[in-house]
Amino acid sequence: MLASEPLPALDGMQSGISVWTGKQLDAVLRASRAAASSSSPSSSAGPQESGRQLLKTIEILGARSQRAQQVNAPLTSIARMRESDTYRLYLLTVDEEEEGEDGVGAKTEGSASSVGPPGRQRLRCRRGIGILKIGTKKLFVTHPRLQSLVEVDARCVLDFYVDDRSQRHGYGKLLYSFMLEQEKPLRPEQLAIDRPSPKLIAFMRKHYHLANALPQVNNFVVYAEFFTGTTVSCRGRLERAPATAGGNGMGSGGSRVAASRCI
Ligand code: ACO
Repeated sequence: MLASEPLPALDGMQSGISVWTGKQLDAVLRASRAAASSSSPSSSAGPQESGRQLLKTIEILGARSQRAQQVNAPLTSIARMRESDTYRLYLLTVDEEEEGEDGVGAKTEGSASSVGPPGRQRLRCRRGIGILKIGTKKLFVTHPRLQSLVEVDARCVLDFYVDDRSQRHGYGKLLYSFMLEQEKPLRPEQLAIDRPSPKLIAFMRKHYHLANALPQVNNFVVYAEFFTGTTVSCRGRLERAPATAGGNGMGSGGSRVAASRCI
């Protein structure tokens, strides 16, 4: 089972957060396949090997996220990343220390070792431990004031997972805040979330003080603040005022621009 496979070492990558589109992952896949079919023995090493480990990491974390969320199919995989050009996958890679006995055990290909107590080795290994998948979706959401469905092209959190043994260490916040920085001027309350788990609901409350979740019939959740600074067009489309420089799209008066229906 993919979710139970060990995460490969990612020593060919830098630690930190990398961002991937479906097209970029496809390019990595093609390069790996080309190297595998090449007759040169040296062609399987180096960047191609890193590419394979990167793809494997994404597949494993996608499968573990699926298992954690108990959904029928993985929300993140190389194939699923091809479904939209709007998808972005944020991957968190960290350096971990592991203990191996008598030099055996935790060491995986490409991992570095350092000296430890006799009979034991401290092994340093770089691995992917978290994913956050974002994309734009056309959604129908119930407007809390109008009590009718409005259509919106929403930036959505589609999959979010930190490896089980690394949860509650701040890695989720690291990924989420990096994503928000990249997606500026997007603010936390402007994201719709696909079937948020209780852990994610607690996460949003703790880190972003978002508590007024409004579950939708399509299983997405938006927060009440999602509607702040929006208007509804004659065609029933929810539109957001463009963000001003250094602002938040709401103007200096916060929720000054109230939602209104065009008649
Ligand atoms: N129970 C309750 N709250 C939790 C739990 C838990 N087991 N784990 C994390 N949280 C929330 C809490 O608010 C916690 O703060 P606390 O420890 O003070 O109570 C906070 O998250 C911790 O913040 P981080 O350490 O930055 O977050 P973490 O690295 O744990 O990542 C994440 C959060 C991604 C939700 C992680 O817990 C996870 O992968 N959970 C399993 C998969 C999941 O539920 N993903 C979201 C599904 S919905 C979707 O993907 C669209």
